[in-house]
Amino acid sequence: MIPTTKTKTKAYSPRPDEDEIMALEIKLLLQAIEFRYDYDFSHYAQASLTRRINNCLKKAQLNNVAEMIPKILYQPEFFELFLKEMSVTVTEMFRDPLVFKALRDKVFTQLKTYSRINIWHAGCATGEEVYSLAIMLKEEGLLNRSQIYATDFNNHSLKIAEQGIYKAEKITEYTHNYQQAGGKASFADYYQAKHGYAKMHNDLKEHITFAHHNLIKDQCFAQMHLILCRNVLIYFDKNLQNKVLSLFNKSLIHRGYLLLGDKESLEFSNQINNFETIAKDQRIYQKINYE
Ligand SMILES: C[S@@+](CC[C@H](N)C(=O)[O-])C[C@H]1O[C@@H](n2cnc3c(N)ncnc32)[C@H](O)[C@@H]1O
Repeated sequence: MIPTTKTKTKAYSPRPDEDEIMALEIKLLLQAIEFRYDYDFSHYAQASLTRRINNCLKKAQLNNVAEMIPKILYQPEFFELFLKEMSVTVTEMFRDPLVFKALRDKVFTQLKTYSRINIWHAGCATGEEVYSLAIMLKEEGLLNRSQIYATDFNNHSLKIAEQGIYKAEKITEYTHNYQQAGGKASFADYYQAKHGYAKMHNDLKEHITFAHHNLIKDQCFAQMHLILCRNVLIYFDKNLQNKVLSLFNKSLIHRGYLLLGDKESLEFSNQINNFETIAKDQRIYQKINYE
């Protein structure tokens, strides 16, 4: 006898539930994106994902999510716009200065013992944080032996990061952050101001490699002494956070450092027993396992 498959059918209703239909359309949209571009957004935090998709709808002047699907499938340039919308790129120089101060006070002493220092800056957005780190390394005499790999999955942001040119109107705020982070010189020593813009000095750039990397599907980096990843994991669900944290663990040397900043934490993650806490409030951890 052929077994019968029980499929759950929904009773027909003349007035469809709009939220349910939107959820279905989003599911199909995410499948189309994965099928066509191999980007899996299904483990992004639901609320922010829906909000960003809605923003994208408005900007593209489309009526519903279903209308986005053929555009995603047949217009790669539309996918680029979508990706830009999905990636929140808010950042600043010496953002949350006390995090940088803790890094300087609690991590650099150990980094000084290495002849070469490998650093992975994951989710670097437009690069402001990376240049801040390079400035601090320079002030501690560590920049010349450091190699920073700064990665993001947003190519548009990476281009801005590579240029290292920022609006001069932000400089007062950045100078204040730099001082709070324990800056030892003058922030003006690190950029050249021209026509309303500040261009970061080339000697900082020489030690930074900007590269495309998707935390969801790409490989780990090898032999890292320090990994920084701030304000990125908040956009992922618990499963994806754990997957990315395992990737960080694999990428670090034994006794390497992981900096998550004050919005994210290893608490309740699958990595809690593999790290010890170095700075509680700034969420700086040191790897203690040998994986
Ligand atoms: C809010 S910014 C954080 C920038 C910086 N780390 C900071 O804290 O100022 C978040 C960044 O994470 C990046 N991002 C999001 N999902 C990603 C993924 N799957 N792989 C790589 N980068 C991702 C975004 O493109 C964006 O540039």
